[in-house]
Amino acid sequence: MVTDNLRPFYVHEITLHGVKSKEEQFQTLHPTFYYTLNAIPDGMKLNASELSTKRTPKKVKKKTVSKKSVAAKNSAKAKILTDEEVAPLLTNNTCIACHNKSKRVIGPSFQEIAKRKYTNEQIVELIYNPQPKNWPEYATPMAPMPQVPKEEALKIAAWINSLSD
Ligand code: HEC
Repeated sequence: MVTDNLRPFYVHEITLHGVKSKEEQFQTLHPTFYYTLNAIPDGMKLNASELSTKRTPKKVKKKTVSKKSVAAKNSAKAKILTDEEVAPLLTNNTCIACHNKSKRVIGPSFQEIAKRKYTNEQIVELIYNPQPKNWPEYATPMAPMPQVPKEEALKIAAWINSLSD
């Protein structure tokens, strides 16, 4: 985990989105914690280039969209992933903790969601802002998942929609 703007003697509120257990892929039950920071150790900050972003891709800011991410976005539109290709996205973004392709689990199956005929963009929006009232028969509401990178959300959305036919 990487953080910034820490101040000694202040209580810090920290929210860890997307942290999950290795085996079952469960998300933390309480992703937010509060801690009083008593001392910051001496020494230099870690250079950002040394950070691994493998599991927590940095959000690409709108203003600085790189050619690479534009290409990723376009190819997301052009090409629908296979089940094998989408699997790591569903795993890394913890979707599989609650969703299955064809079976109801904690959340509706992706095939069931496909029947709602959302556009890809609507699905992306629902990942960021779920509407539990759309699924009154599900006891546990889905938490908003703003940490899912947009390109990945779009690829997942296109794959979900491909399941309707
Ligand atoms: C903690 C469990 C949980 C996780 C993790 C989760 N979902 Fe859900 N999801 C649900 C539940 C429950 C519903 C139905 C009720 C609701 O929308 O809150 C749902 C509904 C949805 C819907 C339909 C929304 C609507 O209003 O019709 C989509 C699309 C969806 N999930 C996609 C995803 C994707 C993609 C991921 C991974 C990035 C994901 N979910 C992760 C539990 C989860």
